[in-house]
Amino acid sequence: MRNENEWGSNLAFVLAMIGSAVGLGNIWRYPYVLYSNGGGAFYIPYIIAILVLAIPFTILEYGVGYNYKSSFTKAIIKINPKLEYYGWILPVVVFIMTIYYSAIIGWDGIYFFLSFLKGWGSNPNAFLTHNVLHYTDSLGGIFHFIPFVAISMLVVWFIIWLVSHKNLDEGLGKISKIFVPILFITMIIIVVYSLTLPGANIGLNELFKPDLSLLWDFNIWSAAFGQIFFSLSLGMGAGFTYASYTKKDTDLITSGLYVIIANSLFENFVALGVFSILGHMSLQSGTPVSNIVSEGVTLIFVIYPQVFNTLGVISLILAPLFFFTVYVAGITSMLSSFEVLSISIQNKFNMTRKKATSILVIVGGLSSMIYATSCGEYILTITDTFVNNFVVILSVTIECILFAWVFKAERLINFLNSKSQSLKLGKWWLIVIKYVIPILLCVIWIGGINKLLNTATNEYLVVFIILLSILLICSFILTVLKPKSQNWFKTEERIK
Ligand code: ALA
Repeated sequence: MRNENEWGSNLAFVLAMIGSAVGLGNIWRYPYVLYSNGGGAFYIPYIIAILVLAIPFTILEYGVGYNYKSSFTKAIIKINPKLEYYGWILPVVVFIMTIYYSAIIGWDGIYFFLSFLKGWGSNPNAFLTHNVLHYTDSLGGIFHFIPFVAISMLVVWFIIWLVSHKNLDEGLGKISKIFVPILFITMIIIVVYSLTLPGANIGLNELFKPDLSLLWDFNIWSAAFGQIFFSLSLGMGAGFTYASYTKKDTDLITSGLYVIIANSLFENFVALGVFSILGHMSLQSGTPVSNIVSEGVTLIFVIYPQVFNTLGVISLILAPLFFFTVYVAGITSMLSSFEVLSISIQNKFNMTRKKATSILVIVGGLSSMIYATSCGEYILTITDTFVNNFVVILSVTIECILFAWVFKAERLINFLNSKSQSLKLGKWWLIVIKYVIPILLCVIWIGGINKLLNTATNEYLVVFIILLSILLICSFILTVLKPKSQNWFKTEERIK
């Protein structure tokens, strides 16, 4: 009988990893990051970030995940049982991220239904602010609950449950094989159409006009590394967990390269589409692209609807297709981040996949209700900064040091090289993961914290402290609860 936690094929693993990487970060974050950080010049730090951070770190994560064939938390215990508390921090913070991710997908679900009749009307900005978000930028809005947004978020959690409670290959494996190709096909249709719009060249010229002087600016380097981090979900346990489900003959190095290449192709392709559309809008409205460009919620739920409003009948196909694509990209990424805490809980408490996923879906679904209030978007922005700029980078620095130095990454080299049909690891890899990445991450972390302290308001800091307390307390409870699995403190390694 097949193991309920093993991929049926290599293809399922690679597609699930691509599904995990390609998400909202590629669609609503990347085009703006590329534009606002030097345009064409941004490719220099971007490619360096791929070579120095993405490739070496992905191989490390996959290698250690494969070696322990267990959850992230259990692997940390095997490295040193005293570190169990740290072993829960990353899965819990990734779960916090999963919760706010569900909110964004929930909003997108609403727009998917609206798109059939362009239900956002002639002023998408006012519609988003007043009719969907009921936006308030203060915590007072927490008492204003928005039921239809809540329902849309709960639908997202139900889909996560439907896929995750099944055996790995029947759930995640099957969904990735169907939806990741669909994701690429729908995006190709949207982008190719955008490139044919009148004015597309105005947007593309604006995007690629390189500002080489920015190369001396710390911010563009930190933006490139931050983008690669978020977009590939580096160090967030997804790669680690998915690699732990691989079969013995998997070529982890080449699989990692496929994932990184697919992710970059996807996000750069999306950028072409976004800027063609902005160019078209600029031509129609006479407003320069620099005044229209935006990211995040505004790009997806305001700029796109504005463009669809100008496109005529074709938009009745294009708009639902676009919001469907964002939905699929979000769900496949959310499935991978959900898996990180789920498998740790299954391992420690000897729970079936069905029971663990059911409990977590209920906890996640109920917690996500905070984002179905008037201050949902406001809290989401703060939580996003807390997770990505504050906790994840710090936690990944520790992870990198533990895997490279304490686990001793040199043990992986022969095994990984023996399966690799492409890149071979050598001393260069050890130098990068032992010295270059930890130092780089520290620099990025300090830069980010510095920026945060200079800009944060008091209310912002209050939310930060609440989030930090939730993270530390939940990780503490999970640490002190008695394990139900007799193997919790024992793990067999696979690499001979
Ligand atoms: N990697 C996921 C994304 O890009 C988190 O959205």
